Amino acid sequence: MHEETQLFYTFTSPNIIHMASRRNFLKQGSTALAAMAIPAFSNKISLAEISAALKSKSNHSAENLAGDEDFWAMIREAYTVSPNIINLNNGGVSPQPQHVQEMQWKYIQMSNEAPSYYMWRILDQGREPLRQKLADLAGCSAEELAINRNATEALDTVIFGLPMKAGDEVILTKQDYPNMINAWKQREKRDGIKLVWLNLDLPQENDDYFVDQFAGAVTDKTRIVHVTHMINWMGQIQPIRKIADAVKKKNQNIEVLSDSAHTFAHFDYKIPDLGCDYWGTSLHKWLCAPFGTGLLWVKKEKIAGLYPLFANDNPASDDIRKFEAQGTRSFPAEEAIGYAVDFHNAIGSDRKEGRLRYLKNYWTGKVKDIPKVKIHTSLKDQYSCAICGVSVVGTEPVELDTFFFNRYKIHTVAINWENIHCVRVTPNVYTSLKELDKLVAAISDAAKNGVK
Ligand SMILES: Cc1ncc(COP(=O)(O)O)c(C=O)c1O
Repeated sequence: MHEETQLFYTFTSPNIIHMASRRNFLKQGSTALAAMAIPAFSNKISLAEISAALKSKSNHSAENLAGDEDFWAMIREAYTVSPNIINLNNGGVSPQPQHVQEMQWKYIQMSNEAPSYYMWRILDQGREPLRQKLADLAGCSAEELAINRNATEALDTVIFGLPMKAGDEVILTKQDYPNMINAWKQREKRDGIKLVWLNLDLPQENDDYFVDQFAGAVTDKTRIVHVTHMINWMGQIQPIRKIADAVKKKNQNIEVLSDSAHTFAHFDYKIPDLGCDYWGTSLHKWLCAPFGTGLLWVKKEKIAGLYPLFANDNPASDDIRKFEAQGTRSFPAEEAIGYAVDFHNAIGSDRKEGRLRYLKNYWTGKVKDIPKVKIHTSLKDQYSCAICGVSVVGTEPVELDTFFFNRYKIHTVAINWENIHCVRVTPNVYTSLKELDKLVAAISDAAKNGVK
């Protein structure tokens, strides 16, 4: 029974599908299938259907497909979208396609039959193929990727793992993510490193602005430059490659850490293109993977010099797996990441990016010229993608956000952080134009009639 079960699950894993021979599966899998009584997927739309639909549109550019409502209505079907509430806070955390939810749930049920057996001996067999699958998407070596639980864990590994001495300088901005700011502040307190703060004036549509800010703060003591690839508060994309090149030109000892929590599987790029040394992301944001999944990338030659956050027997090892000693965690969540990658790949990175831009341009195009409405994000492709900030003159962000929900059942988030004050609007691939029309109506209503 165990061997058969193992074969069955081996065969159904999105990560190790090629490791089981079809012959073995046919020979032994049918018994296992009956024994485990796993129902057929109940998702309304399958990857095969998405792939077939895409094939029929193979002569459509990502740009053309971006406005193909039939295609995107089919993608929407793959999610379990609330019929009552319009979710426009996908920037916080994104939902998983139903297929991903179901596979995680199946792994949970399987694990609960005998957790140490199924999690450690069966599910964990998928870790290496999953690493490769993520590496293929990220455009890097699998030997540079560690699977973590969120972006905070990935980035804290770098922030706390870098050997630094008192007086070493880190350049960061007031617009970075609070968890990361707090981690650096803790190092400042404990180790006497110096934090050199930039205060960005956003939005910006000029690469030189960012380059000048970061490069201008470099000294011979600068050790790390922390760059938030996409500013979460309002979606500004920073020109990280240019920033990295400029600061390294001024001081070649500098290393660059990219907080890419918001960019992986959001818009199309490969990690090595960024010119950074360390990179961390969430997988429960734009990849739509299970909640509590993230990824750390460390440039191969930097792995040995970075201490793991959770110690193992050889902290100076150059094996990326030393960053995965977190102890017991959710193997079902981790293993189901593979299904989210499959789903993402079925759409395609460029097509997803095209649709996300289309959605943002759709609603902003309808409201940007309404009196009192202010857009807080550049609408140029180079500087933003799905995330965009909006406000109504004379209305506090919290009031506007509350108005959206109470009056229109639109869920957004109010942003009041440093010099950024707006409501952040984030659609995702399942968002319909009808939902955005409602947002447009809500913004118009607020601008014309107030929110009281
Ligand atoms: C820029 C940025 N960095 C880091 C994080 C932390 O991500 P996680 O919740 O996956 O740890 C977030 C979360 O929103 C973020 O926006």
